[in-house]
Amino acid sequence: MDKDEFVMPVVKWVGGKRQLISEIDKYLPSNYSTYYEPFLGGGAVFFHLQPHKAVVNDINEELMNLYQVIKNNVEDLIEDLKKHKNEPDYFYKIRELDRDIQKYNELTPVERASRIHYLNKTCYNGLFRVNSQGQFNVPFGRYKNPNIVNETTLRAVSNYFNTANIIFKCCDFEEAVKGCRKGSFIYFDPPYDPISDTSSFTGYDKGGFDKAEQKRLKDLCDNLNNRGVKFLLSNSETQFILDLYKDYRIEIVQAKRSINSKGNKRGEVNEVLVMNYE
Ligand SMILES: C[S@@+](CC[C@H](N)C(=O)[O-])C[C@H]1O[C@@H](n2cnc3c(N)ncnc32)[C@H](O)[C@@H]1O
Repeated sequence: MDKDEFVMPVVKWVGGKRQLISEIDKYLPSNYSTYYEPFLGGGAVFFHLQPHKAVVNDINEELMNLYQVIKNNVEDLIEDLKKHKNEPDYFYKIRELDRDIQKYNELTPVERASRIHYLNKTCYNGLFRVNSQGQFNVPFGRYKNPNIVNETTLRAVSNYFNTANIIFKCCDFEEAVKGCRKGSFIYFDPPYDPISDTSSFTGYDKGGFDKAEQKRLKDLCDNLNNRGVKFLLSNSETQFILDLYKDYRIEIVQAKRSINSKGNKRGEVNEVLVMNYE
């Protein structure tokens, strides 16, 4: 199966890896059986590689529902997306839908996918951020011509999902890689260890990702390493991460962060790629 040039990320995501693809490419293992990506987000690496066999996961239910709908119901999704308007009053009406949980639960999977796709294209900076109650809280972005209905990409991604062997999960990262066998390859792109206490972005979902979570991930990496599973992990270049992974191969790469909630802080940040192979 050849790669399809129209297959690409469908949402903009904080920590999106588009900028780092060429760096990551250099360090990928030459062969593996199943590809795993337990912190999928926008899936820049996954869509770049287009593996034949993969298990992809994110704890964010709205995001994983969107991928499932693209797989199973792409034409209904495209039709539904066409109804949206790039206007502030309309945007806030759609954004507020998750304030009434009972009503929200009555939306069909297609309507929920359409809402999150629309909000992602029209909100400020393409962020996905929720407050402590799990409510989407990013303001209207005032873009002139947001690409709300990208039919070509959506159909290409749907076709890829239906021709390759892809399992979608929506759970914690540890659960997502259970059953992973020797010869598989895992790309971990967790929420990053913050460079400073104020730069922390914790709004991917209701739960946070603190130092204890980073340690839990490192323990999992040790376990996978003992089982002969190859992994590559991205994170920010902080002393904490350098110490945590000191027994593994670490490469430092520079990344232009594509999204930062404070636009003026955009720029080059060092990132690390950690791997358990040469
Ligand atoms: C840095 S982003 C991934 C970016 C992505 N690789 C891309 O290129 O767009 C991290 C993702 O981890 C997810 N996440 C946070 N905690 C998690 C957990 N405990 N288990 C699984 N996923 C989690 C978030 O919802 C978020 O989408």
